[in-house]
Amino acid sequence: MTNNPEISLGLEGINIASTNLCRIDGVAGELIYAGYNIYDLAKNATFEEVAYLLWNLDLPDQDQLKEIKETFQSERVLSELNRHLIRELVNGNARPMRALEICVIALGALDQNSSDFSPSNLKVIATRLAARMPTVVAGFHRARQGLDYIPPRDDLSHAANFLWMLLGKEPSELEARVFDVAMTLHAEHEMNASTFSAIVTASTQSDMYSAIASAVGTLKGPLHGGANTAVYELLTKIGDEASIKPYIDELLDRKERVMGIGHRIYRTTDPRAVILEALGEEVAEESEERFYFDLSRKLRDYLGERLAGRPLYPNVDFFSASVYNMLGIPSDLYTAIFAMARSVGWTAHLIEQYANNRLVRPNAVYVGEESKDFIPLAQR
Ligand SMILES: CC(C)(COP(=O)(O)OP(=O)(O)OC[C@H]1O[C@@H](n2cnc3c(N)ncnc32)[C@H](O)[C@@H]1OP(=O)(O)O)[C@@H](O)C(=O)NCCC(=O)NCCS
Repeated sequence: MTNNPEISLGLEGINIASTNLCRIDGVAGELIYAGYNIYDLAKNATFEEVAYLLWNLDLPDQDQLKEIKETFQSERVLSELNRHLIRELVNGNARPMRALEICVIALGALDQNSSDFSPSNLKVIATRLAARMPTVVAGFHRARQGLDYIPPRDDLSHAANFLWMLLGKEPSELEARVFDVAMTLHAEHEMNASTFSAIVTASTQSDMYSAIASAVGTLKGPLHGGANTAVYELLTKIGDEASIKPYIDELLDRKERVMGIGHRIYRTTDPRAVILEALGEEVAEESEERFYFDLSRKLRDYLGERLAGRPLYPNVDFFSASVYNMLGIPSDLYTAIFAMARSVGWTAHLIEQYANNRLVRPNAVYVGEESKDFIPLAQR
């Protein structure tokens, strides 16, 4: 140990891996998936194409896209174990992210090949997780309302099928496209708390299911994926435009944080928030539920004044809350939806990790007492 060991709290600024998957330029506000700009992918690619890209580092041709869509379809149906667990979890009043965490582990329990780390088997598991997580979330939401599980439909895209299974209503073309893009925007984000926790788990040569369950648990916190639900709660607490200033002034005076604002890497603009705001406007034009979307914009404007000069801007969660609200999605599912989409990025990083594994084992600097005399129990 050196005399003055450096400690990097929060691992800020530490590179822990090289990756072909994602590059973020936090100053330019740029997000790149495997060489493709997020603006191009959001405009031109479906979520299935993005999933293929992240797992294979190349966009699919037509046959490859057909094949991955068929694999998604064949992996969507809920297992009997998941259905049973969902019933029990609903009976126990479990929250959606906890239910998802448990159902991910249950998928692993049923897979005899979970420890086969060959790239081809890892892609099978990755597709299974990405395909099945939406069915779990939708099935859980139906069950807690006392409603029957709606089986997946093969004629719908991954995004449209989720909305169908969740709401029992076929989404409009616009709703399906907006949700598809939202999934793409959440699919990958280089290194971050949940991806790191997946990598730590996999680095011990534990399997992909356990690694993804670790990631789901890490995403749950309000400083990470939990922020989108927290944004919705903030909007409902603010309530109307006139209350924005007094509410936010008081919150900031108490040194609390505004959810959906700020990012460790983006210091100017988060391109995902820009894309979501534009999509939100398209949905709002057709929606009777545009109230919170409009309130989000007013809130953004006021925060722009109040936090001027500080690198604090809307992040991806800021507009996801009101966009999902307009799509009719209950607010306590927002983080689970983030997890469904991010499962693709997590598993893509795990494919890289298993191919070039090294046990993650950092150090801690001991600052406690030394050389204490042991006192027998009877004398303490
Ligand atoms: C995302 C986040 C954790 C990144 O934080 P970070 O890079 O570690 O920034 P720090 O915690 O070092 O904060 C730096 C300063 O900005 C302030 N700050 C950061 N985010 C803030 C927010 N959302 N609202 C108000 N102030 C904020 C901090 O209070 C701190 O102020 P100080 O220097 O006066 O103490 C942080 O911005 C945050 O908590 N945001 C809200 C939660 C959220 O939306 N998370 C989703 C991220 S995609």
